[in-house]
Amino acid sequence: DTPALIDRFGRVATDLRVSLIDKCNLRCTYCMPAEGLPWLKRQEMLDTEEMNRLIRIAVETLGVTNVRFTGGEPLLRQDLVDVIGATSALTGNPKTSLTTNGINLHRHADALVEAGLDRVNVSLDTLRADTFHQLTRRDRFDDVLDGLAAAKATGLEPVKVNAVLLRGVNDDEAGDLLRFCLTEGYQLRFIEQMPLDPQHGWDRDQMITADEILERLGEEFTLTPHVAERGSAPAERWLVDGGPGTVGVIGSVTRPFCAACDRTRLTADGQLRSCLFSTTETDLRGPLRDGAGDDELARLWQETMWAKKAGHGMDDDGFAQPSRPMSAIGG
Ligand code: GTP
Ligand code: 5AD
Ligand code: SF4
Repeated sequence: DTPALIDRFGRVATDLRVSLIDKCNLRCTYCMPAEGLPWLKRQEMLDTEEMNRLIRIAVETLGVTNVRFTGGEPLLRQDLVDVIGATSALTGNPKTSLTTNGINLHRHADALVEAGLDRVNVSLDTLRADTFHQLTRRDRFDDVLDGLAAAKATGLEPVKVNAVLLRGVNDDEAGDLLRFCLTEGYQLRFIEQMPLDPQHGWDRDQMITADEILERLGEEFTLTPHVAERGSAPAERWLVDGGPGTVGVIGSVTRPFCAACDRTRLTADGQLRSCLFSTTETDLRGPLRDGAGDDELARLWQETMWAKKAGHGMDDDGFAQPSRPMSAIGG
């Protein structure tokens, strides 16, 4: 038997999310303070070879079929094209995808696709340049639009757009964002804000819920449930005005999808997480640098996933936000 990443609830992880770097060139208020965070030091981060080795073990030994690269902002990692190239070339032809804020994507899109990148998701919360600045504390709105356009031009399909709505900031833009994405051919998903910011600014009572998003969209569009198999996808989708365009909602808080989870996570400093909300991690970097063999690393990975919890437990007494911020986990 080939070893798989199975947990005690019978879920099998086939989707690896790799955070390649914790740094970002934006400062979204819901994610980071203006001054940034204490970034990982170079020697703490896995180098290209170490990263490629762990991804190879996940794919060729442990049954991972999809690898998503995130950050921080993954385009800030110099070796991104190399890592995607190495991953795409692995036995089993894993699918590769990228979650990015889109800045500089127009410069790298062709090289990424040539290296084997299959899909891209771009974060865009607003269509107003001034709101973009308020929300991200940077004037890079046009760069994101350029990045999106470049992704479409390379033929990547679908190009997905992620939007987090914040009350009183951009929550009046749900309809405009959807019209923009339908026109441009992007697949829009709204994400409920999760308690993962180091500033602890998340307030459940202020959060724009999935119900609220659907209610607002319902005033401007006719939404009908999209029948395509959801599988383990975080997004629930609706056809807009009869289709073919769709809109998705990722209701992590009010509509948790943990029961179908197929994800395992690796951080830029070589720590494994069985869940976005894990409060414990397994160190792979130490053993790797101490000369552990592939078998040993694969066994540690399997043990980590076996200990995965049933769900994020956000509504349980004593829920504790992970000490690592979203930007260092990779979402
Ligand atoms: P595709 O649907 O395959 O394109 O990817 P995705 O939606 O899983 O990836 P993306 O990186 O675009 O993530 C979108 C949002 O879903 C982010 O806010 C993630 O944090 C969230 N998300 C992804 N996986 C999980 C998960 O396992 N649990 C929770 N609660 N949220 C997740
Ligand atoms: N809750 C929900 N989504 C978040 N993102 C970043 N922080 C949070 C949070 N606390 C989003 C980003 C990006 C995606 C990967 O996750 O905006 O679109
Ligand atoms: Fe999976 Fe954890 Fe996300 Fe739930 S919160 S879907 S268990 S990673």
